Amino acid sequence: MPTLIADNGASSTPMHALRPADWPSFRETLPPGARRFAESVQFEPKPGRHLLLPGEGGALESVVFIEDPKKSEAERAFARGGLASLLPPGAYRFEGEDGDLALVAFAWLADAYRFEAYRSKENGPRARLVVPKGANSARVERLASAIAFGRDLINTPANDLAPDGLEAAARELASKFGASFEATIGDALLDANLPMIHAVGRASATPPRLIDFSWGDEAAPKVTLIGKGVTFDTGGLNIKPDAAMLLMKKDMGGAATALAAARMIMGENLPVRLRVLVPAVENAISGASFRPGDVLRSRKGLTVEIGNTDAEGRLILADALALADVESPELMVDFATLTGAARVALGPDLPAFYATDDDFAGQVLELGVRINDPVWRLPFWAPYDEMLTSRIADVSHISSTPFAGSVTAALFLKRFVEKARIYAHFDLFAWTPTARAGRPQGGEAQVARLIFETIEHRFGASG
Ligand code: BES
Ligand code: MN
Ligand code: ZN
Repeated sequence: MPTLIADNGASSTPMHALRPADWPSFRETLPPGARRFAESVQFEPKPGRHLLLPGEGGALESVVFIEDPKKSEAERAFARGGLASLLPPGAYRFEGEDGDLALVAFAWLADAYRFEAYRSKENGPRARLVVPKGANSARVERLASAIAFGRDLINTPANDLAPDGLEAAARELASKFGASFEATIGDALLDANLPMIHAVGRASATPPRLIDFSWGDEAAPKVTLIGKGVTFDTGGLNIKPDAAMLLMKKDMGGAATALAAARMIMGENLPVRLRVLVPAVENAISGASFRPGDVLRSRKGLTVEIGNTDAEGRLILADALALADVESPELMVDFATLTGAARVALGPDLPAFYATDDDFAGQVLELGVRINDPVWRLPFWAPYDEMLTSRIADVSHISSTPFAGSVTAALFLKRFVEKARIYAHFDLFAWTPTARAGRPQGGEAQVARLIFETIEHRFGASG
């Protein structure tokens, strides 16, 4: 259901975004009936509150929304977008064209998203936003539908989204943009020398696979995005307790972000040679499960001692990273719901971010604030590398200590990267536990917009 509408002169209800201090003088400009209404409901101009105001006939005539002056411009844009869920159905427009209009429109769409695939009853009509002439609403709509695509993938339960389903979604996306697509499935992973993807995924009834697609001018700068695609994480033989397993359909959130970002990059026709890799597996339990104490030989040749089958994500990513790295991409980025430790450190809303390049990292942090897709940088802290020492193999995939779990996971991944000019890693949650403006409860393609905007800034827009 489209919730953005073009400014075609049809009637719409004005919304006034005010700071708390502006309310008293604004109130004086209201017609007497509306002013009396605001007084009678004892409206207080607190940040985040809104008020529906009647006209002389008693029908809805305008909306007042109180902004938080302490918030950043991007956060205020999202707060305005949150009106999409608060207002009754109808057409609305913002009065006064200040602020980042495109971001407000994006946030409105992002806020209006609902996951309806399993509801027999559809939600009714929604509040719609009139986009001011001049704002690029086609681009905003493309970005918002890429986010909705990522959210849908995350929200879809594992009984309907196994590795084959993730492959089908990626294949459809690739074909829409004329990308060349390949999937290496089941025992073919062994022939293709992707042994750790095979080992992690082989216990599932749905065979593991590596999804690989490429798009764009071959001469353009190479950008490779890699997403953790664990369609369900039981923990394997190191089985998760019930509370920890409950949300593990979202363990392909990194893949959802990579695919959503790819959709933005291809949709806006950025001048890059894009490659997307998604190792897609289900970390299941059967007689074929890999075990604690096993030693796996990785694609790169390093032998990896398994300390815990629940640290599966880094294993499948390691083979994908090693495969991508030999092309020496300008930029190689992975996205993964990799560690509980990152959530302990930063909570659900702030993904941890690692980068080998300070200039790139600075740009990512700045853009994250500007578009309200924030991240926090953590270090590839080399002195902790020794925590990955194994007694019998080249490396252990988990730390020998309980400390710095997100950092040691990042350091493990970095062992498989040598030639990429810039390597970055996002350890994310991919889920919004409680709804906020622009962020409905449920799956979230965190950092998809951020990496898209960063690539656009770095490699330039194409005409
Ligand atoms: N998918 C989980 C990490 C996770 C858990 C992300 C909860 C977001 C929310 C990952 O595969 C995992 O189980 N990691 C373990 C690693 C440990 C065994 C070294 C973890 O973080 O506990
Ligand atoms: Mn796990
Ligand atoms: Zn996992």
